[in-house]
Amino acid sequence: MKKYLMIVALIAVVSCSKKEANPNMDSNVMLEEPVAKVVDSAAAGKNEGLALIEGADCLTCHKMDVRVVGPSYQEVADKYTEGDLDMLANKIIDGGKGNWGEIPMTPHAGMSKENAKKMVEYIMTLKK
Ligand code: HEC
Repeated sequence: MKKYLMIVALIAVVSCSKKEANPNMDSNVMLEEPVAKVVDSAAAGKNEGLALIEGADCLTCHKMDVRVVGPSYQEVADKYTEGDLDMLANKIIDGGKGNWGEIPMTPHAGMSKENAKKMVEYIMTLKK
């Protein structure tokens, strides 16, 4: 038991001194990243979806409340229900047109179904 506490104390000292060693360097951000992730997922699922949308190319064609190239996310949320989640996630991955007009959405072939669903879940929270 004593040995275990010693190890824990040692790790604490080592990780603290690492941070102090380079307070202004980028690597410091890396050290703190896991903490940020924990906070994110604790906040709410919808924030994860929003982060994914902001990290992809979506906002070049979509705005939350105004139609640009594609429909606004509020319009999308109003038109569909939770039952359409799967179809919408597939549409983001495969691209396509016809539900809003003749302008097609580009496919996002590299995106996982899981992430596409998180995006749609976020969009659904904009329902008025
Ligand atoms: C090149 C422009 C463009 C980009 C980039 C784009 N979209 Fe779209 N999106 C469109 C257009 C245009 C439509 C309307 C398609 C239609 O008429 O069926 C659309 C439709 C949608 C719909 C509704 C689908 C339906 O069938 O009603 C969702 C949800 C959506 N986009 C999400 C996203 C997400 C999430 C991203 C980022 C990963 C994204 N879009 C990136 C242009 C784009």
